[in-house]
Amino acid sequence: KILIVDFGSQYTQLIARTVRECQVYAEIVPCNRSFDIDSSVKGIILSGSPFSVNDPGSPHPPVQAWARQRPVLGICYGAQLIAQLWGGTVARSQHREYGRAMLQVTAQDPLWQGMSPASQVWMSHADTIVQLPEGFESIATTEQIPVAAFRAQQGPHPLYGLQFHPEVIHSVEGKTVIWNFLFQICGCQGLWTPESFIEETVQRIQHQVGEDEVIMALSGGVDSTVAAVLIHRAIGHRLHGIFVNHGLLRLHEFEQVMEAYRAMGLDVKGVDASEIFYRQLKGITDPEEKRKRIGKTFIDVFQHEAKAFPQAHFLGQGTIYPDVIESVSVNGPSVTIKSHHNVGGLPEKMHLQLVEPLRMLFKDEVRRVGETLGVHPDILHRHPFPGPGLAIRILGEVTPEKVALLQQADAIFIEQLREKGLYDEVWQAGAILLPVQSVGVMGDERTYEYVVALRAVTSRDGMTADWARLPDSFLAEVSNAIINRVKGINRVVYDISSKPPATIEWE
Ligand code: XMP
Repeated sequence: KILIVDFGSQYTQLIARTVRECQVYAEIVPCNRSFDIDSSVKGIILSGSPFSVNDPGSPHPPVQAWARQRPVLGICYGAQLIAQLWGGTVARSQHREYGRAMLQVTAQDPLWQGMSPASQVWMSHADTIVQLPEGFESIATTEQIPVAAFRAQQGPHPLYGLQFHPEVIHSVEGKTVIWNFLFQICGCQGLWTPESFIEETVQRIQHQVGEDEVIMALSGGVDSTVAAVLIHRAIGHRLHGIFVNHGLLRLHEFEQVMEAYRAMGLDVKGVDASEIFYRQLKGITDPEEKRKRIGKTFIDVFQHEAKAFPQAHFLGQGTIYPDVIESVSVNGPSVTIKSHHNVGGLPEKMHLQLVEPLRMLFKDEVRRVGETLGVHPDILHRHPFPGPGLAIRILGEVTPEKVALLQQADAIFIEQLREKGLYDEVWQAGAILLPVQSVGVMGDERTYEYVVALRAVTSRDGMTADWARLPDSFLAEVSNAIINRVKGINRVVYDISSKPPATIEWE
């Protein structure tokens, strides 16, 4: 595997993904934490950073010690850090470089194998290496800077630095550079495939759980489903799934998902707890309070159901890598924008040990593993859906009547997206019930009914998003269908805000 030392760059996860796309396993470690370099580690990549290496307090971990043991590749801040630690000079540059630049390769090197002599790369730096340490050699330039890449052989292993970002898509041959580092320089083998992951993980789960049993809350989402299928493959019917219907799911979702689980041979108990949740939400309008109550009620219901399996000492969870990676915080602890509830707090409360087979995977890898496991494409390619469900898409108080209204509007929107082949074009879509009524006219009658907002976004990971440019004619059809078919809604609007500054959900 490759270790990626994170200095807080927004691109760190992209480095890990690129390495894994080369079928080499990669793990991210925070720069302020010590780690073992055992025999499985073949090389180390240092990420970029919002810091300057000259900032007082900027991270300076013991890169020299790492470089004595493995090949090291520094990217941007990582490269500047190497240059500085080995005695070179890094300074604020005359020419800040942001965006595209032309990389000119100036020396032959295994790192450049298969590369064009000139290729477009992506730059994002204010500092630059003005003087390389003794024994270091520049191996590429751009029009603006003489050291766009360097190499050095100081000890048993080579050291490399790149001023550009090979991990971003605008660096056209960036993946080739990373590929070369992995295979030409570190001697990686490229054995990381969904099949190998499944085999290894199944064994690990069997070893961890032994003869014991596992309980798990399922939601119909990609992550929990794929995790359950893996655990099921490892321990069969000693996995007990519980799917709680909080009454805030989409139209017919509970029945459809239960049917899908049955078809997959999973042993899942469906629990309709809608009434309990509605009671807890009565009169509550504050979004955070809704989330808190739903989270707490969920734990209560799950705990109650879990009593049926006293022999289970493990809790399965669909945690994925982005939930796990500790981000290196630059501006102190980040503020809570929305507290995503789900099942936080469960394991401590119930004294259960966690089984999290997807802990080291990115979302696209979860999908590939799911595909290999034969999980139905409809489940694998479902849009994300928030844990608190429609409660955070009904602004103001949640009532069963409003849920029914929103479910119908939402179902029409999603059904039309599917029919027109647009479902996979957007990252997430749904309808939001606004707490206002407006005047309309139907036939000769005056109406005074609710407004629904449609939201559809494109995104890579939900961290940032843009509103989807759905065709006018499509929106017109959806609007017509909703207003004609859903009694109680007489107006439809389309949300054209991006994230940031808006968020995907309205609450
Ligand atoms: P926002 O609204 O923060 O949403 O832009 C980003 C993504 O997170 C989902 N989301 C949630 N998921 N519990 C969840 O499990 C929550 O409380 C929650 N709030 C938002 C949202 O649907 C989107 O995919």
